Amino acid sequence: MTAVKLPGELVLVTNREPYSHERTSKGIICRKRVGGVVSALDSTMRKTGGTWVAWGSSKADFENGDVVKVPCSSPCYTLKRVKLSEKEREFYYRGFSNRTLWPVFHLFTEKAIFNTQFWKMYVKANTKFAKAVMDVATDDSFVWVHDYHLSLVPSMIQNTAHKIAFFWHIPWVSWNTFSKIPWRDEIFNGLLGSDLIGFHTKYYAQNFLECAEQLGFQVNKKQSIVHHGDRDVKIGVFPVGIDYQQFTSVKNRSHTLRSKIKGEKIIFGIDRLDYTKGILERMLAFKQFIEKNPQWKGKITLVQVATPSRTKVEEYRTMKHELDESVGCINGEYSTVDWTPIKYFYQPVSFDNLVKYYKMADVILVTPIMDGMNLVVKEYIAAKDTGVVILSEFAGAAEELKEAIIVNPYDINAIAEGIKEAVEMPEDEKKKRFMALKGKVRQKDINWWMEKFFSEWQKLYIPAHPESGSA
Ligand code: G6P
Repeated sequence: MTAVKLPGELVLVTNREPYSHERTSKGIICRKRVGGVVSALDSTMRKTGGTWVAWGSSKADFENGDVVKVPCSSPCYTLKRVKLSEKEREFYYRGFSNRTLWPVFHLFTEKAIFNTQFWKMYVKANTKFAKAVMDVATDDSFVWVHDYHLSLVPSMIQNTAHKIAFFWHIPWVSWNTFSKIPWRDEIFNGLLGSDLIGFHTKYYAQNFLECAEQLGFQVNKKQSIVHHGDRDVKIGVFPVGIDYQQFTSVKNRSHTLRSKIKGEKIIFGIDRLDYTKGILERMLAFKQFIEKNPQWKGKITLVQVATPSRTKVEEYRTMKHELDESVGCINGEYSTVDWTPIKYFYQPVSFDNLVKYYKMADVILVTPIMDGMNLVVKEYIAAKDTGVVILSEFAGAAEELKEAIIVNPYDINAIAEGIKEAVEMPEDEKKKRFMALKGKVRQKDINWWMEKFFSEWQKLYIPAHPESGSA
């Protein structure tokens, strides 16, 4: 149990559900969804209990109604599912969330589509989520809304007795970029229905405060407060951590995998297949590394796993073709009868296999163009005793993990140089840097994050001391 217990039931709200029910030849089975955000929040809910409101996205999800106890093997909290029509999934989820907000907040504005129909459906879907929250929340509830899909929910439930907080999991961009969104006022006002809004880094929080000023809100930068009518909205920085124990408790089972891959060094990358992750640039950097360092030919392998994601969205399909082509070109050019430079998998990965990959990798290559936090890097550090981390300066994690080899993900040369530095790093330096990284990941784990957020949230409702000396 967490030391910081909220004095009311927690109602957590996300777009993605933590567990789904899927129909298979063996009947309906319950599956845990993979992904950083839902894994982190599932760990939280297991400790606090309460209700999780989310989109029921699988075919058999509503077979027994919209409320179910989870995790399926040892139920300890309630999942209330929201049903979305195909039109809502198309325009709210694939449309406004993933073709408007996602590219804008990752600085891919050239990919962003500003479409009124997307927006209308986003409002409609947010209204559905807000209604589902009101169905389950009581006056004492603490309602915690998450991520860019649901920015309007806080203002929609604001005129209730609930305590409301929001966590924004992706980057928050500067005013220059944010202001491009035609519905910027509505989104901002939606979020300001919260009492507390959390971000992963100081930089994102500063950007948010800058946007508030530009939109004409009164801002107290010193206290990180936005005044909204007669209310104060607190802005905080809470870098999310991982369930550290989950990764350290797995025994080393990497040798079988390792012995199948030729060479001295294995570099590993694993990402959702997404254009924000810098996977294409990474392939080019690896190619450049081989070209400039021919002594490594036959001795180094890049294992890249890209897990299928948002596969019905056009930009993701295009990116898949580009990646297939890029890997094919590089392997075609450099492979020999007994060596393939890039082993590429386009497949989902189970938790067990994920840990095996981490354990066998000498170096992890995490080079997103822009990433709210990036939990892969923290998982790798937790799972290993030693290793080398190459990390993009534009991943939120770079604000904390300064002992990594930090690279600019747009700079192919810099990534190639980073690979060279990583594979040639002396043992003692490697150990020193890795231990420092491990200490940070261990200390600021998911429990630390949750406690920090909850204690900041509760503080907001403690009445101020009466002024001393007043009559
Ligand atoms: C990012 C978002 C999450 C989202 C995840 C997977 O990490 O911040 O909210 O759940 O991507 O994307 P998906 O579209 O599959 O939910």
